[in-house]
Order: sequence, then C-alpha cells, then structure tokens
Amino acid sequence: MWDEKYSAEDYIYGTEPNRFLEEHAAELAPGDVLSLAEGEGRNAVYLAGLGFRVTAVDHSPVGLAKARRLAADNGVEIETICADLAGYELGSGRWDAVVSIFGHLPPEVRRQVYARIPGALKPGGILLLEAYTPEQMGRGTGGPRSADLLVTADMLREELAGLEFLHLEELEREVIEGRGHTGLSSVVQAIARKP
Ligand SMILES: C[S@@+](CC[C@H](N)C(=O)[O-])C[C@H]1O[C@@H](n2cnc3c(N)ncnc32)[C@H](O)[C@@H]1O
Repeated sequence: MWDEKYSAEDYIYGTEPNRFLEEHAAELAPGDVLSLAEGEGRNAVYLAGLGFRVTAVDHSPVGLAKARRLAADNGVEIETICADLAGYELGSGRWDAVVSIFGHLPPEVRRQVYARIPGALKPGGILLLEAYTPEQMGRGTGGPRSADLLVTADMLREELAGLEFLHLEELEREVIEGRGHTGLSSVVQAIARKP
C-alpha cells in the first residue's frame, strides 16, 4: 500500500518538515536521531540540515528512495533503513532523540515499538511525536481510515511508561503538510524525556 502511494512523482506529505517538529527541534540535544516511519524523508532531511545524524526507518523502499533523493537535492546525508518496525531492533541507549510523525502502526506493533523506545534512548534523550487521535475519524483531512491505528494522550502515557512527559496535549490544528494532510485535524503531540 505505501509503495503504491509513494510511487507518485510528487512528495505526498510535501518536502517541508512537520510543523510540531520544526517548532520544537531546538529542544533536541545535538547528536543521533532515529526517525520512525519516516516515509519520503521530509523530517529526516530537515533534521540533517540542522546538523543531526539521522537514521530513517520505514518499510517502504519506494518512500525511502524518495527520502534519499530529497537528501541529495538538499545536500545532506541521511541513513535509511528499510525494515518493518514490528521486528526492528531500536538499540540500547543509542539515540539522543527518537522522532515519530504520523507513524501510525497496528496496535500490537505500536505497543512493541513504544515499549522499546525508553531503552533505545540515551539518558536525557527525547521522544518527539505527533499522531492523529480517534477524533480525526471522518474528517477527511488525512490520517488512517482505521480507528485502531489512532492514538490518544492516555495511550501514550501508558505505553511509553518510563519516559517523563514534558509536553503532552491533544488538540485541533490545521495540518497542511502535502496533499496527504489537508486541513483541520485532531492530533496528539508529545515530548518526553528519558530520565
Ligand atoms: C502517514 S506516513 C508518515 C510519513 C512521515 N513520517 C511523514 O510524516 O511525512 C506513515 C508511514 O509509516 C510507514 N509504516 C507503516 N507501517 C510500518 C511498519 N510496520 N514498519 C515500518 N514503517 C511503517 C509507512 O510506510 C509510511 O511511510
């Protein structure tokens, strides 16, 4: 499904970074960033441009090929890893930051991945995440069609136990990020720190 979506010539979520990431990138410590479900590379390329060493994981080879092209067009380097997050080993104490922007996963996979994030971060490392909430269903402005892929603040607090939340908010905002994200949306935003 994702390969087919990404086989379009244009970047379906655009080439500009996610706004929440852009607003808070200065809060990430310089160093190694793991970007989960990175897709076509807009956020990885943005972070690489700020000087972070970025590893972008996604299971779509077509999306990651576009990510490498976007990086080359912008004169930055990113590492891309084509892997299903269901079996992907995030590492131990490896990352200064983990980023997940609209990285919607089936519940069992999401729980496994979230459970591994605290261990994968260095002490003081930051998770920055934005995702659609169940209120997004039926809006038609982007996000998964299936309710079980959506997340709430309570789910994040529970499934990311071990992290200290510095910011956790469900809100409505205009998400205009490519033709895949096109208007008023219900999202949850989180910034959490490994103690
Ligand atoms: C809505 S897109 C978001 C892409 C990117 N983070 C952005 O905001 O531009 C969701 C991404 O999740 C990826 N994805 C979904 N399930 C996955 C899985 N099990 N393993 C790895 N990537 C997955 C898809 O390939 C897709 O690139």
